[in-house]
Amino acid sequence: SASGPLTNKKILVTAGPTHEPLDPVRYIANRSSGKQGYAIAAALRNLGADVTLVTGPTSIALPAGINTVRVETAREMMAASEAALPVDCAIMCAAVADYRPSIETDHKIKKERGGLTNIPVAENPDILKTVSQLQTNRPRLVIGFAAETDDVLCYAEAKRKRKGCDWIVANDVSPGADCPMGGERNEIILITDKGDENWPQMPKDEVARRLAVRIGEALAGPSLV
Ligand code: C5P
Repeated sequence: SASGPLTNKKILVTAGPTHEPLDPVRYIANRSSGKQGYAIAAALRNLGADVTLVTGPTSIALPAGINTVRVETAREMMAASEAALPVDCAIMCAAVADYRPSIETDHKIKKERGGLTNIPVAENPDILKTVSQLQTNRPRLVIGFAAETDDVLCYAEAKRKRKGCDWIVANDVSPGADCPMGGERNEIILITDKGDENWPQMPKDEVARRLAVRIGEALAGPSLV
C-alpha cells in the first residue's frame, strides 16, 4: 500500500446502514449509501493508513486495498468494530439503526393477521459511544457523524459531548436539492475541541481527502492522553 503521513497508523471506519431483520422479507434500516464512508476509507488508505472498513449492506463497489468486513446488523457491526481494536483512530460514518425488532421470525409475518401493526423493538448498542468511552484501548482520535435536519450545529455539539468522541462531522440532511444522502457532494461542519469549521460544499471524495489530511496532522501531534 501507499506510504504517507498515515503509514503504520491503524484506522477503523464504519459505513453504510445496518439492516435489522424482522422476518425473512423485511427489515428496519436507515438511509445511507455508504459513499462518504467508503471515500474516507479510500482517502486514509491513500495516505498510507492500515484501514479496516466495517460496512453494512450497500450497493456501491468496495474500495480496494482495505480490510473489509461486511455485516448486516448493528450488533454485528459492534462486534466487528471491537474485533478491529486497538486502532489509532476510529471514524463512525455508519447510519446505525437505533432499534431492532426484538422478535425475529423465520416465517413471514402476515398482515391479514394484523402482525405488522405492533412491532416490539429493542435498543441497539451505540458503537460510537461505546468506543469513545472505552477504559482500555480507546482510540486516540474518535470521530462521529451527525446528520441533522434542524439546529445542526447545536445538536451536533451536544452529540459530541454526549457520545464522548473527539470530533463530529455534522451535516444538514433536510430534504431538498443539496441533501447529501445518496448524492456525490457534501457540505459539512467539522467540530473539534478547538471550535467549529464550516467547509464549503464539495464532492464527497474531496471531503474525505481533507479529513484524511486533518487526521494525519492530529495523529502526528503529541498525544493528549
Ligand atoms: O445518535 P446518532 O445516531 O445521531 O449519532 C450518530 C453517530 O453515532 C454516527 O457517527 C453513527 O455512526 C454513530 N452511531 C453508532 N451506533 C449507533 C448509533 C449511532 O456508532 N447505534
